[in-house]
Amino acid sequence: MLTSRRKFLLSAAVLMPLPRLLSATALLSENYFRHGVASGDPLQDRVIIWTRITTQRYNYGPVIWELSADPDFSKRIKQGNYQLSADNDYTVKVDVEGLQPGHTYYYRFQYNGASSPVGATRTLPDHLDDRDLNMAVVSCNNWEDGYFNSFRFIAQKKEIDLVLHLGDYIYEYRTGEYGNKASGRIHAPLHETVTLQDYRQRYAQYRTDPDLQLLHAAKPFYMIWDDHELANDAYNDGAKNHQPNEGSWDVRKQAAIQAYLEWLPVRAKTAGEIVRKFTIGNDLELFLMDERTHGRTKQLDITEAGFEGSDRSIIGAGQYQWLADNLRNSKARWKLIANQVMFAGYNVAPGFKLPKYNDWWLGYPYERGKIIRLLEEEKIANVIFFTGDHHESFVLALHPEKEFMQYKKGFEEKPLAWEFLTPSITSKNADRLSSEEIKVFEAMLYKKDINPHLAFADIKSHGYYIATINKNKCQVGYHFVDNVLSREARERAAATFTIDAATFAIS
Ligand SMILES: [Fe+2]
Repeated sequence: MLTSRRKFLLSAAVLMPLPRLLSATALLSENYFRHGVASGDPLQDRVIIWTRITTQRYNYGPVIWELSADPDFSKRIKQGNYQLSADNDYTVKVDVEGLQPGHTYYYRFQYNGASSPVGATRTLPDHLDDRDLNMAVVSCNNWEDGYFNSFRFIAQKKEIDLVLHLGDYIYEYRTGEYGNKASGRIHAPLHETVTLQDYRQRYAQYRTDPDLQLLHAAKPFYMIWDDHELANDAYNDGAKNHQPNEGSWDVRKQAAIQAYLEWLPVRAKTAGEIVRKFTIGNDLELFLMDERTHGRTKQLDITEAGFEGSDRSIIGAGQYQWLADNLRNSKARWKLIANQVMFAGYNVAPGFKLPKYNDWWLGYPYERGKIIRLLEEEKIANVIFFTGDHHESFVLALHPEKEFMQYKKGFEEKPLAWEFLTPSITSKNADRLSSEEIKVFEAMLYKKDINPHLAFADIKSHGYYIATINKNKCQVGYHFVDNVLSREARERAAATFTIDAATFAIS
């Protein structure tokens, strides 16, 4: 009865011209743009702009997009139409071309007479010289672990040019499985994401977060996925958190990747294209990696047969060759590797537990060794790893090791590369240990006979770092928030490190 009445009202609404006032009210209550706007993958002459239309009716014609030099759109430069489709979940993605390097632009969308919020974006400069490039580096924003306050603080910083997101943009878990109940935040759908519909719904939920929306609207993103965009500890042919009763891994993987490519402002149209690089003249090259679906073999423990085998890979032969060729031939002063899992690694004293290092580069010693030898033998200078996944802040010098995981050289000696791990935005780290336990663990980490290559460790804070790069230096400044369990939070500037371009020394 109720259903047929609803049907009648709906069809009546379609057939009858609505009074002007009612139409406006309907428009407001519909809020076509409830997932905000976003931009990404800026080059010198183009940038991706994104939105998603949410409505009961998708037949109002195309979405109109506009790009302007000013936020009032009096200096409109580009515009066009975009045809909505259920095939990509009514997301809108336009690669706006013909732009100027190092310029700020504003963009918005219109649908059925309603306007989206205005987004700001920025193209890459064609060179740096003395000008700084400021990049906020983030990862691991688990909804059920709390509020994304750091995203709001980044959005408020005028000097930041772009955001580098290193993965775990969503988490696949069902509600209550992984998170902090004290946050009061509940995953949608309630169950673990397995199907295309599930992953789409999870992205849609995360994109209602006001701080995430604010940041997407304020800055362009470069993004890579880690495991939780698929499932925990994903590798090419499976994942620790994929069980046979959840169907085919390949089908699930394709669904996860499809939803990612629909919902995020990346240029890639296929999983293969997510491995890419961005170049700023002879100043820097940024390599964006995939360490999950490009040929990662299954994780093994150090005690298992074949652990050191040359048939084991974390990035796959093709991606290795791409990275090696690019590093060899790069003319750029800085070679920055945007990387999911920790490369340099660290060790712990007897009696302490090392986290699941078999999912890190340490779990793939043959391929890790190949990269270390490449840097060493070909004297590839000024390589810095920007790393996510770990939820904790570490600054590590990469030296060749004579024995696996036996770190002997200090960070005071010029390393082959530096590695900066960004803390999680919210995801669990040692934040739930007692302050005494944290103190004991951190003191152990800093012991010179265990981790002489460790310049900094903070295992309990949430936040991000800002990498400030020019031709003379790469400076990394950590920023920590004091609360993720509500939107009431303050942030503080924590440790700052500067790598000198000429000496590669840290200070
Ligand atoms: Fe994570």
